[in-house]
Amino acid sequence: MADAKSVNKTHWEAEEDKLGERMALAMNPGGEKAVERLAKQGKLPVRQLVDKLVDPGTAFFELSTIAGFGMGYPEVDDVPCAGLVTGIGKVHGNWVMIVANDPRVKAGTYFPITVKKHLRAQAIAERCGLNCVYIADSGGAFLPMQADVFPGEDHFGAMFYNMARMSAMGLKQITLSTGGNTAGGAYIVFMACQSVMIDKLAYSFLGGPPLVKAATGEVISAEDLGGAKVHTGISGGADHFCKNQDEAVARIRAILSMEKPQALQLQRFPEQEPAAPASAIYENLPANIHQGINIRNILPALADAGEFVEYKKEYARGRGDNIVAGKMLLKGMPVGIIASNGAGILFLEAARKATEWIIRCSQEKVPLLFLQNSPGFMVGSASEHAGIGKYGADMVRSVSCSQVPRIQMVIGPDNGAANYGMCGRAYRPHFLFHTMRSRTSVMSGRSAAEVLFSIEERKREARKNPMTEEDKQAFRNRMMEKYDGEAHPFYTGARLLNDQVLTFSQMRDWLAMAFEVSMLNPVADPNFGNLRF
Ligand code: COA
Repeated sequence: MADAKSVNKTHWEAEEDKLGERMALAMNPGGEKAVERLAKQGKLPVRQLVDKLVDPGTAFFELSTIAGFGMGYPEVDDVPCAGLVTGIGKVHGNWVMIVANDPRVKAGTYFPITVKKHLRAQAIAERCGLNCVYIADSGGAFLPMQADVFPGEDHFGAMFYNMARMSAMGLKQITLSTGGNTAGGAYIVFMACQSVMIDKLAYSFLGGPPLVKAATGEVISAEDLGGAKVHTGISGGADHFCKNQDEAVARIRAILSMEKPQALQLQRFPEQEPAAPASAIYENLPANIHQGINIRNILPALADAGEFVEYKKEYARGRGDNIVAGKMLLKGMPVGIIASNGAGILFLEAARKATEWIIRCSQEKVPLLFLQNSPGFMVGSASEHAGIGKYGADMVRSVSCSQVPRIQMVIGPDNGAANYGMCGRAYRPHFLFHTMRSRTSVMSGRSAAEVLFSIEERKREARKNPMTEEDKQAFRNRMMEKYDGEAHPFYTGARLLNDQVLTFSQMRDWLAMAFEVSMLNPVADPNFGNLRF
């Protein structure tokens, strides 16, 4: 019989194969035919263009690849992604945010998840102080859903509002236009600090030829109305004329070649390899999501030399131990760790330990990693009377007020108020990553099924139509399927509730990138408001 470790490893590798398949679908909308169509126009698939833009031999950390997959908008027939590639890569040694339309998906138009993804990339750039490059090739707002993408605060216009404000802060906003930029979308060219247009590929106008004809009777081609020659030679709305994509990418790199080198606001020690291979993560995370974990078997695969200096290791064993706190070096950078352990249930001792450690790290200006595997805080009268509410609130307050960069990595259940205390999306982590073991929802499918079942049962009894045993089981199953489905990383990833779904073997590289990028801006002083203790 296979031992537990190999069962776990086989299980997670199979799960990550499913992730790989989904990512491949998201990255190849339209298949070969769409690539051939681009080639005829003299265009590369957008990721190949991005690869040419980043420094040779360096990684492009693509964000939220599966955003949009299976959203099922009635107005958009099935699309496998948001039609927008976002991510972080190095250009001349500096980290840069890249936001690139994929014209293979509805001509690169913006439906709700596209807007959300664009704004999330800009939010990361603004917070971390990254210059932005926009590779623009879009038909603008996806017109059948204009009411859901155009008029609101977090809609289409916010993209340009962000460009204006970031450039005022000194963050370069550079646009490479390699396709259509119509109506509102034209502003991505005109709002840039510098914009590059490609001859006979790029167009930018407030109204395209059909609209011009309807409005004024003028008959004019797209090229003559707002092509690269018009905007670089006549209107002055764009700044660089290039003959093809290769030349345009080289120009963008040249524009960014004289930027000041970024400086890490953290002491960096020499990097060392972890003590355990990534396979230790696969082997030690139980295939059963509800089974407890031993985080001390996982950390050696993340920490430099496997060294983890644990804080309050002896404190309240069995209760305090459901949070493991401490510090480690991650590719030479000191990082504070708040990690779920065992079943991950947050007893008040665990919450107190976490609060203390968040405050210590905040005072030292050391960034924090939350490794989340917690189904919630401990319930029941003993816990309530001992003050779990106030100690939990202290943890939530310290997470909310901590001014150091915080990153959440979910490796198991992520439910209820434990999602708050462990720095879920609402607590504004600089980055939030899920894995195939993540399950993020208000409560587990099992618990939700029980709560909803008891409500349904009462209702049916009151209506004198009690549930049969079969009804009860069917109801429970339906609810479990719904809540477990909504907690799954495919569901949360599609809705951009994480910044990427990572494989376990990617965790260390991605965390190192995310902490480095998050520590480029100076860290303010701490202020925690009214803790209770
Ligand atoms: N809203 C909704 N759907 C749009 C769209 C828009 N603004 N622009 C393009 N599409 C759809 C097309 O209907 C087509 O859908 P299909 O695949 O289901 O047939 C798909 O996107 C591809 O469009 P197509 O025109 O074939 O691509 P293209 O590469 O030949 O041309 C554009 C690209 C952007 C130049 C052209 O589509 C265009 O001019 N669109 C209108 C732009 C506009 O006026 N936008 C104003 C909104 S702010």
